[in-house]
Amino acid sequence: MKKIALGNQGLKVSPIGLGCMGMSEFYGHPNLNDCKNTLKAAYENNVSFWDTADMYGPFTNERLLAATIKETGINRQDIQLATKFGIVRDEDPNARNINGRPEYVKQACDASLQRLGVDYIDLYYQHRVDPNVPIEETVGAMAELVVEGKVRFLGLSEASAQTLQKASQVHPISALQSEYSLWSRDIEQQILPTCQELGIGLVAYSPLGRGFLTGTIKEPQDLSQEDWRTHMPRFSSKNFQQNLQLLHLVEHMAQQKNCTPAQLALAWLLNLNANIIPIPGTRKASRLLENIASIDIRLSIAELKQLREAFGAQKVSGTRYPEAFMSLLNI
Ligand SMILES: NC(=O)c1ccc[n+]([C@@H]2O[C@H](COP(=O)([O-])OP(=O)(O)OC[C@H]3O[C@@H](n4cnc5c(N)ncnc54)[C@H](OP(=O)(O)O)[C@@H]3O)[C@@H](O)[C@H]2O)c1
Repeated sequence: MKKIALGNQGLKVSPIGLGCMGMSEFYGHPNLNDCKNTLKAAYENNVSFWDTADMYGPFTNERLLAATIKETGINRQDIQLATKFGIVRDEDPNARNINGRPEYVKQACDASLQRLGVDYIDLYYQHRVDPNVPIEETVGAMAELVVEGKVRFLGLSEASAQTLQKASQVHPISALQSEYSLWSRDIEQQILPTCQELGIGLVAYSPLGRGFLTGTIKEPQDLSQEDWRTHMPRFSSKNFQQNLQLLHLVEHMAQQKNCTPAQLALAWLLNLNANIIPIPGTRKASRLLENIASIDIRLSIAELKQLREAFGAQKVSGTRYPEAFMSLLNI
């Protein structure tokens, strides 16, 4: 699998990444052996762009990646490790604080390096923009990490077009990581054009709509009680039923193209030709291989349009996050 440029500062990654969040929490209880096997399969199949964050677990996700790299004898240089700082959790599993203060940036990076067991991070993101700290100050501290050799490239997550403009004046930003999929298209109007103008690559998170677009979740009751999606508006009984109507086109077109709905949802992103790297999350090696195969699926302009229109903004029921989490987005 040929690596491709993400942004225009020299970072090269696999055309599809691996989202590791679900290996530690949020989507039901993970089987750690399955997760390690998935990471190994990713390595063996050249899916080398791995996505984690200090708040996944919290902290255990970075440690899981470190343990797998060590046990498997993976060559550090063969993996592009991306991690994030800035969402601070406390004992309340639903509480989130945002910290973008320069001294915290330094402290968080050192802690991530230690947990990951590496001496540099390929791509270091601010996970959420701190409304109380000017972005220039946060990115200023991140830029010092590059000078110190602790970080190779910088990224932001869920940042607005204006924030991207301001941040880029301090240091080039290589990647924006934001939710982008058939049913989450908030970034299309302003943010994607700004990324293109500034040479920032897009890392599309939750590209499978947190599993919804794969067609394997038939009703919200399929999710276990501990699954965080049970708190997500789009997975409430009423919204879920309405959103299922939109899924029919994906299932129908996937059947016609002899692929799975998951592959079609990923192919939609990969065929947009806009420096977009999807990072589907899975804990199963078989699904990882299924997702990789989406790279070879070609969609015509008419098919792209048909899918785009079927999931028009007003047609999706429910917001991306519960209200308290929506307010953390800088959009
Ligand atoms: N920056 C941010 O704020 C942010 C927010 C959310 C996520 N992320 C990152 O983005 C990554 C991906 O997003 P995500 O995990 O939220 O959502 P996603 O990739 O849209 O969907 C993941 C879900 O789809 C299932 N799945 C994966 N491949 C499948 C297939 N081929 N067939 C059927 N089901 C499949 C997974 O289940 P199994 O695991 O059981 O296979 C999991 O439940 C995360 O891991 C994380 O690294 C970042």
